Formats: sequence, C-alpha cells, structure tokens
Amino acid sequence: MSNFKLKKSEFMDLNLNKKSINEAIEDIDNNGPEGVDGIDTPLVDAPMDIPVDQTAGGAGVPTIEMEPSMGGSNLRKLNPETIGELTARLKDEYTAHYFYVNAANWCRDANYKKATAFFEAEALTELGHAKGLMDYMVDFNIIPTIPVTDTNQRFMGLVEIIEKAYAIELDLMDKYNASSAKLFASDLTTFDFLQVYRTGQKESVVEYNDLLNALELVDKNDKFQVLYFEQTYM
Ligand SMILES: [Fe+2]
Repeated sequence: MSNFKLKKSEFMDLNLNKKSINEAIEDIDNNGPEGVDGIDTPLVDAPMDIPVDQTAGGAGVPTIEMEPSMGGSNLRKLNPETIGELTARLKDEYTAHYFYVNAANWCRDANYKKATAFFEAEALTELGHAKGLMDYMVDFNIIPTIPVTDTNQRFMGLVEIIEKAYAIELDLMDKYNASSAKLFASDLTTFDFLQVYRTGQKESVVEYNDLLNALELVDKNDKFQVLYFEQTYM
C-alpha cells in the first residue's frame, strides 16, 4: 500500500519571521531605527513598518512591536489558479479515501482479513494526503473549501476492487502531474510542495500494477486461488 507521509514544509516555519525580526534588531543596533528599511521579508508583500521602542528593551536592545498588519491582508496568499488546482486534488483525495473505506467494508464482510487491513490503511493514508493539501493552503492564508464527492461504492469482488483502485491511482498520478505542469509557470513554491504527491502517486500506481500482475498468476474466477492471492500479496 502506498505509505508516503507528508512532511510539513520546513520553509514555512515561523523561523522565517523570527529571522527577519532578529535581522531587524541587528540592523537597528548597527544603524539606528532608520536601518529597518532594508529588511528582507520573503512572505510579506509590502515592506514592514516596524515601530521601535528604544526605552523598553534595556541594555540597548530595542523592543519591536508587531503591527496588526503583520497578520493581515498584506500576507502572501495562494493565487486563484493554485487554489483551484489544490481544491480539485483535495476532492480526489477524499474520493480515494471513501473508495478505500467502502473497499475495506466489503472485504471485512467477505472475510478477506488481510485485504481489510490493507484497505483500511489505504483509507487513512488518503485522509493524510487530504490534510496535507489543506494544511498547505492554510499555511498560505487560504481556508480550504472541501468539495462534495462520491462516498459510496458497491463491489462484486476483490479483483474488481484492485482493478478500480489501480484506475483511481493512475488517474490521480496524471492529475497531479497536470496540476504541477500548470503551476510550474505560475507558482514554483506549490510546484515544489506537490513533488511529494507526484512521487507518492507513482508509488501507488506501481503497487497496484504489481497486484494486477500477481493476479495474472492465479485463476481470478477461482475463489480459492483469489484467497491465496490475498494471503500472499496483500
Ligand atoms: Fe492519495
């Protein structure tokens, strides 16, 4: 099963802002309050206007008070094209999540014990992917809109589930590639963020590809052989 885990983007760490503030303090120490004009603030569109209280810091260290604008409208937000792509992929991740939930339920009912555990884990993994997309959007000051998606699937057998899972993962690999290609020109930061999704989708496609190849080793119409497949490969 695909098990790629999302890492929170380190470059989004608040240390960026801390660094800017520390640089501002150093600058003020060296050049006086006028020296703050040259601060490099990668996440803020407009230059910061930082008031300096020369009396409150003690020992020559000025206190820098954050203006309300630091947390407001001048922060970088994702552009509409990026939001559209990420929201579409968010829907796909939830669709995959519910597909695997339904698959796990079907397998539990059929008493395919290993396949049940396999698809339950898949369902959780997809939720993690959805959360990663939403966290990224929130990190760039966008509250995600969660799209409506299909929540119910009906199956006739384990082979059908695996064939459909392969189709879903392959389709999502193509879509992450297409989203990334589109955003390469307009939003390189999000393009980089999506790299882990592209890699993860490739691994998922290969995984189900392997399962489909393994199914070719048995008679898919023979229940006992499908059970052997499930015990051996899942
Ligand atoms: Fe996923």
